[in-house]
Amino acid sequence: MSTEGKTRVVTTYRLSEMKARGEKITMLTGYDYSTARILDAAGIDVVLVGDSAANVMAGHVTTLPMTLDNMIYHAQSVVRGVERALVVVDLPFGAYQGNSKLALASAIRIMKETEAHAVKLEGGAEILESVQRILSAGIPVMGHLGLTPQSINKFGTYAVRARNNEEAAKLESDARLLEQAGCFAVVLEKIPAPLGKRVAGQLKIPVIGIGAGNGVDGQVLVVHDMLGINNEFSPRFLRRYANLYDAMKGAFEHYIDDVKSGSFPNEEEQYAD
Ligand code: KIV
Repeated sequence: MSTEGKTRVVTTYRLSEMKARGEKITMLTGYDYSTARILDAAGIDVVLVGDSAANVMAGHVTTLPMTLDNMIYHAQSVVRGVERALVVVDLPFGAYQGNSKLALASAIRIMKETEAHAVKLEGGAEILESVQRILSAGIPVMGHLGLTPQSINKFGTYAVRARNNEEAAKLESDARLLEQAGCFAVVLEKIPAPLGKRVAGQLKIPVIGIGAGNGVDGQVLVVHDMLGINNEFSPRFLRRYANLYDAMKGAFEHYIDDVKSGSFPNEEEQYAD
């Protein structure tokens, strides 16, 4: 459990304090009320309503089909289940790129309609104007650099990012830009560990990694991946904490057998006159 304590509500300010005292920040994705309640009860610091919902909830190949309305539905469900953690919501593809007024309108919808605490945007210099406009409305922004899945068609691959000097230098410069703009944290996805450590050392704001090594200020995973619900995704950076695919399949098979054989429901599982 996080040493923040269960009764103390996590804020962006608390996260910066955690970085300052060297306490690692924990973040997991959540998309629904029931899972959010369990995450919060376990003491997670941040619940990310990620647009990875497009993959693990809706079965899309990429995150691009996710809509703002979909994100709002998931975020509303999560917020209802959380008392303590900070809830951060992804702005989906098409809700902020190339148009800072649209970006602000999208972020305002998320904050007003879900009562979440912050938004996350993918990209650096290209989306800086959108980040600045959202921040000017008092909405906390988390950045996201490295492998940014909304740009998968530009990258053409989910391989590790920023392995060459040019891309690493751009990532470091983007991270500084986001910090200077006023972002409260940055996610770094699938980059070499030494680069993750270097960026975390350069920034005062927390750097939260997914496949960015152990030298950053916190870690995030997609909840379906770490629970082993999604058993087809096994990147090097993933640690599985359960094998719910087999556990759930076994339970479903057991139920099917019980119903087919007539052993469910038994006497105690039905109502007398
Ligand atoms: O959408 C998501 O789940 C994310 C995490 C992978 C950081 O952005």
